[in-house]
Formats: sequence, C-alpha cells, structure tokens
Amino acid sequence: MSTVYTNIAELVTNDPTVGDGSPLGLLTDAALVVDDGVVSWVGVRGGAPAADDSVDLQGAAVIPGFVDSHAHLVFAGDRAHEFAARMAGVPYDGGGITTTVAATRAATDAQLSANLARLSAELRRSGVTTFETKSGYGLRTPDEVRSLRIAREFTTETTFLGAHVVPAEYRENRDGYVRSVAGEMLHECRPHARWIDVFCERGAFDVDEARTILEAGAAVGLTPRLHAAQLAPGEGIRLGVELGAASVDHCTFATDADIEALASASAVTVATLLPGAEFSTRAAYPDGRRFLDAGATVALATDCNPGSSYTTSMAFCMAIAVRDMGFTPAEALWSATAGGAAALRRRDVGGLAVGQRAHFAVLDAPSHLHLAYRPGVPLIADVIAG
Ligand code: NIG
Ligand code: FE
Repeated sequence: MSTVYTNIAELVTNDPTVGDGSPLGLLTDAALVVDDGVVSWVGVRGGAPAADDSVDLQGAAVIPGFVDSHAHLVFAGDRAHEFAARMAGVPYDGGGITTTVAATRAATDAQLSANLARLSAELRRSGVTTFETKSGYGLRTPDEVRSLRIAREFTTETTFLGAHVVPAEYRENRDGYVRSVAGEMLHECRPHARWIDVFCERGAFDVDEARTILEAGAAVGLTPRLHAAQLAPGEGIRLGVELGAASVDHCTFATDADIEALASASAVTVATLLPGAEFSTRAAYPDGRRFLDAGATVALATDCNPGSSYTTSMAFCMAIAVRDMGFTPAEALWSATAGGAAALRRRDVGGLAVGQRAHFAVLDAPSHLHLAYRPGVPLIADVIAG
C-alpha cells in the first residue's frame, strides 16, 4: 500500500543531499511517498510517482516526528507543590525524587501503566513518534523490573536507572546499594532494558560509582548514557565520553574541556540538552552555541518527569533553545529530531530520507519556523507513524 502526500509547503527531510542542501534538507512545494510505512520518494510536487492513495496536505509544513531521547515516565504521584515552591525561590537539589519513589512503590501495575499510557498519548499529540523512558522511581529490584516491563509495552527505548538516587533504606550503606544496582538489580532488569543510565551528580552518584555501574551494564550488553553536570560541574561528562556512552544528558555546567571532549567524540556520544529542566527549576540555561560551534552532536529532549521538567512538548523545548540557548530554529529542529535519533543510535527515525520510517508531523503552519515563532500554540495538526 503506497500513499502520496502532496501540496506540502515545506518538507523537512534532515537529508542534506536533497532540497536546499542544508542539514534540514528542506524542500518547498514538495510531495512525499510512503510505501508500507517507509519513505520511498521525496521531491518537488510535480515529479511524484503514482501511488495507491493520495492525500492533499493543503500547504502545511511537514517535519520528521520528534525523537524524545530522555524521559522518566514510569511513576505515580504529583509534585506540583514542589514546583510552586521552586518558583518562590526554593532551589532544586533532586531531593524530591524520594517522594516519587514512595508513590511509585505504592502504586499498582495498572496505575503505572495508565499514567504511562496518558503521557505517551500526550507525547504523540505533541508530535513525538519515538521516545525513550527510564526506570528509576522504584529503586528496589522488583520495582525497577516492573517499571521496565511496563515501559517496554510502550517503547523499545527503555533505560535501567537503578542509580537515580540512593534510596532511604541504603542511606548508611551506599556501597551496598551500588553493589546491588551493578549486581542483582542489573541482572534482573537487563532483559527489559536497552540502555543503562546513572544520575552522576553531587547528592546522587559520584564518578567512581557511576563508572562501576555503567561498566557492569556494558558488560552485559546495555549501552551507557548518563545524567551529568546538571547541578554543578564534575567529571561525569568526560566519563561518558570515555565509556563511549550514547549520550551525556543535561550538561548544564559543561566546562570548555567537557565540550572539547564531546566535540571530539561527536560520532559516538551526543550532548543532550534538557531546557525543560532549567525552566522548571529556575536554573540558568546552558549556552547551546558553545556545543554547536565546537562541533558536538547536540540533541534536545523533554526530560519529562514529575519533579524537574513536567512537559511532553518538544516544541516548547525548541522555543527555549532558540530564545535563550543560542540555537537557530533550524538547529533546534534538527536536534529535536535527528539529534534525538543519534542519541538513541537510531538511523531509521529522526528524518524523512528515502528508506527511513514514515514518522512525521503535519504542522498547522507553513514552515518549521513557526514552532519557535508561535510558542505554546498547538501546531501539531496530525501525526503519522506507521
Ligand atoms: O533528569 N536528574 C535526575 N533526574 C531527573 C529529575 C527527577 C526528579 O526530580 O524526579 C532529571 O532532572
Ligand atoms: Fe533525567
């Protein structure tokens, strides 16, 4: 079954060999042909081959579906009061994670699953066609396993984050907790996860603990990614680069040496910036320009979680990146699509080149510029994904 989508005012392919030759591979007055869920042709409208079906998009812009490479969606409970307190000046230190852990442990499978279904539908409405989600609010073997088991019903991009924080019952025995995460918990979680992550930060896990856990994960086939330099500078970013992590996330306090390391590893390790977290914790945004100019591969993601960034809107994150982090609108869109795909080591998504999956969003707008130009406006008119 093939379908030709015609009358596309602007088509973003992320294929620099087509269209304007920019990284977005922009085509104007374009058409797109989809064959069994895969892009089989892109080009100017008049040249499109015949297809079984035809859809007139009436002058809309079409972009690749967003790839949200960082989210924490398996949880229960609400932390809106914490957000209100932060807006009144209380600093964020990750301490609220334990509130969500208690609520998550107390929840039934059905409750966790229903919450994830709700958030996954919300992501879809915001134009996200691929998303990652982490465990990390269970912090006990059975709770981490069930978080990943439930996550897996919604996405293949599941991440074991037993090392989110040290849970209260291990406060006097953190070595014991690290051993458990890198041992029994990892063993039980491994069949349900593709990635392993550590929150490498003061108040969470130090760089030696992070290394122990990530190396143990890598040894059993989970690829590392990590949270680093969100609240303060540290050695986490360079550890990620050294271990060949797929992505180092937050990077809010990246030093020049960190950025140099990320740039030299741009084919392996992505720098994922999470502006929703700075927004919701009233922190200063990282300067995306430093990463981009150095040559790092940069992704933007939502970090959707109940504590530090409760948004599912990639367009909102893009608008911040453009307004306050030095991205051009084109760079922000690339990072929210192809950048996210790189952070998940996926070649089949994140663009609309021939051979990639036909995952795309139709905008209620004539160009991708409107995503940042019209912040807060629901511009995703339709989402096609297989
Ligand atoms: O990515 N940094 C650690 N984890 C989350 C926050 C989790 C929470 O506060 O519940 C983050 O920001
Ligand atoms: Fe996170």
